[in-house]
Amino acid sequence: MKSFLILFTIIALSECITKLPLQRGKKLRDILKDENLLESVLQKHKYDIGTKYHTQFSNAVEVANEPLLNFLDTEYYGTIYIGTPPQKFTVVFDTGSSNLWVPSIYCSSTACQYHQRFNPKKSSTFQGPEHSISIRYGTGSMNGIVGYDTVMVSSLVDTNQPFGMSTTEPGMIFVYAKFDGILGLAYPSISADGSTPFFDNVMNEGLVQQDLFSVYMSRDTHGSVVTFGGIDQSYYTGPINWIPVTQQTYWQIALDSVQVNGQKIACKHGCQAIVDTGTSLLAGPPTDISRIQNIIGATQGSYGEYDINCSNLPYMPEVVFVINGVHYPLTPSAYTNQQSQGTCTSGFQNTSGDLWILGDVFIRQYYSIFDRQNNQVGLAKAV
Ligand SMILES: *[C@@H]1O[C@H](CO)[C@@H](O)[C@H](O)[C@H]1NC(C)=O
Ligand SMILES: *[C@@H]1O[C@H](CO)[C@@H](O)[C@H](O)[C@H]1NC(C)=O
Repeated sequence: MKSFLILFTIIALSECITKLPLQRGKKLRDILKDENLLESVLQKHKYDIGTKYHTQFSNAVEVANEPLLNFLDTEYYGTIYIGTPPQKFTVVFDTGSSNLWVPSIYCSSTACQYHQRFNPKKSSTFQGPEHSISIRYGTGSMNGIVGYDTVMVSSLVDTNQPFGMSTTEPGMIFVYAKFDGILGLAYPSISADGSTPFFDNVMNEGLVQQDLFSVYMSRDTHGSVVTFGGIDQSYYTGPINWIPVTQQTYWQIALDSVQVNGQKIACKHGCQAIVDTGTSLLAGPPTDISRIQNIIGATQGSYGEYDINCSNLPYMPEVVFVINGVHYPLTPSAYTNQQSQGTCTSGFQNTSGDLWILGDVFIRQYYSIFDRQNNQVGLAKAV
């Protein structure tokens, strides 16, 4: 089930990303089975986060660490609180979109029945609702209404934050999601309704030491983190390489080429990529991705995933992303997901457009800094 494809990149500028196939049949059952296995661990950690919030709460903190849970290497999510008194939600911190939303009491979709729902009537600081909103992601969509309230993320107290309260969440993707909603961390230009994104509000209110945030993604269930307002040296080794943002929409950067054994095998004349915490795999244009799948020996399976014989891993090549002249190699174990049945699948996936999406498969290897002050992305070798 690690091939479970999640793509929360918003479809805003063009139809550049197609809907990826959802999990069906056997795989859905596998997910549920794994959920059962992990449930007790996850419940315990939720409690830990809640306790931490109450003891560490403070207005004065300028660097805030938000712990993330990793569900099967496909969903990384953390806990936030909305309203007064605070109502608790889990959200994906998504650098591929710019809106914050959670389910609401006005939603009766199946997805909402299985998740926490915001009740504006129980918040003394709630204002609105003001207008409606619809968001389409690479996988899944939501419709809702927008209101304003206090949002707490780690020790940050972000007041008057616009956020969506879902009224419908069509389809199955959010039904099986471990998280309730999404907190977008991309630029305001791709906010679906023009609402001020969370981190813009945080910057405007002067809550952070530096106008940047950093993401560390672990393979383990625990240990992943978003650091708001700072860079945590304990999560990387070597230099940070800074790459200019080419378009202030997604966190978009220029990719020089993709190489194997010193040969350019994809993106031969340069292309554009986004660094996207909300996409689980590493996605790119189909012809380029097909060439990579061939070279690494991955073959298309029956669920749209690409299968790899795990015993081939020692003989498979590194795939190197060249960005701003610097090489970012991915080893076979980094770009391969181990399935519970002992099989392996490729971490590479088709999109239908020209944009490459450097998702969790890439970010697990490279600590990523999203710098709004200088409009650049920093990448460093993750520990
Ligand atoms: C990916 O794109 C290639 C080339 O267009 C195509 O042959 C293949 O079927 C696509 N794979 C999936 C899972 O859609
Ligand atoms: C995987 O490769 C090994 C070694 O080449 C082979 O013995 C085994 O049968 C392969 N497994 C599958 C499922 O193809």
